[in-house]
Amino acid sequence: MSISTAATPPGIGAIRSFPKVELHVHLEDCLTSERIEELAAEAGVPMLRPADSLFVYSSLAEFLEVFEWWCDLLRTTRIAEQLAYDAAVQARHDGIVYAELFCGPRYWTRLRREPLIEALAAGFERAHGDGHADLALVPSISREQSAEWAMGLVEWLGASGPARVVGLGLDGNEAMTGRTSPKFTEVYARANELGLGRTAHAGESSGPEGVWDALEHLHVDRVDHGVRSIEDAALLEHLATNGITLNVTPSSNVITGMYPDIDHHPVGPLIEAGVPVTINSDATKGMNLTLSGEFDKVSRSLGWSLADVAAATRRAIDAAFCGQEKAASLHRQVDDHLYGSEGNSPRRDGNS
Ligand code: ADE
Ligand code: ZN
Repeated sequence: MSISTAATPPGIGAIRSFPKVELHVHLEDCLTSERIEELAAEAGVPMLRPADSLFVYSSLAEFLEVFEWWCDLLRTTRIAEQLAYDAAVQARHDGIVYAELFCGPRYWTRLRREPLIEALAAGFERAHGDGHADLALVPSISREQSAEWAMGLVEWLGASGPARVVGLGLDGNEAMTGRTSPKFTEVYARANELGLGRTAHAGESSGPEGVWDALEHLHVDRVDHGVRSIEDAALLEHLATNGITLNVTPSSNVITGMYPDIDHHPVGPLIEAGVPVTINSDATKGMNLTLSGEFDKVSRSLGWSLADVAAATRRAIDAAFCGQEKAASLHRQVDDHLYGSEGNSPRRDGNS
């Protein structure tokens, strides 16, 4: 693994046009404050805060409180389908060719999980058919939910879930719920039997022990955030040796108060420790972020060239739950972008 030092950062234009892949972003965060205002008016609900300060937070707890408030405005399958469609349009505008998005059925308090997931998958399908980004869905359990609820979700996904559902996630504030991974051991084992990829938020509101728990009890294929692994040398070695990918979200961690700024974020040291790291936004509209913007900030902070952006994209492709055929096609898209489609240039060596 090489990180170029003192490279000229590629710049936002080159990053935006690069064919990118994102693995850690929440669909419910793809709503603009204007759309939230519209939905609140339709539902006859007063705005929690003025639209221009809705997306201002200083902690994960505050972010999740506001997030839950606006999710409660998402009340019909029509709204769900359109949100999914709009997310694929936004992703294409940011140069994202493939992404796996979380949806948290717990936050959609007015809809049953099955019609919700079907509507979201239908929105992705319609958008892809119209030439927008190719998006897949990762339903995410909230840590305070019961194992019975989660097992019901997984069994339904296995029996009749839409093809665009590729994995299972787990999110929430571990500082408030306490240690909850052991509760979902059987659920994750069943998800694996049914062919779903396994991921979980950990090492954000929990320390390294939360990441160990996700590995030991849930046998996750990858970890969302996982940044506090930097505090535990044995964990870093385990992640590097076993090729467990951390889906890191630098600005989101700054916004929720984990780190003072991007230059103090452990993304660079995690990569230097040999851990496969991907770059992600976590939240687009809800934190006013884009994947291109994240790559731009990381490139400036760590002195990345476009080759480093390509390497991080290839790590995301390798960790995606999309299957080998789609992964090979995504790698070819990266090759074509870097070398042209004539095949007259060096092929990928896994590093650039
Ligand atoms: N759910 C939505 N965003 C989240 C985050 N950043 N951490 C934990 N759970 C979440
Ligand atoms: Zn997240």
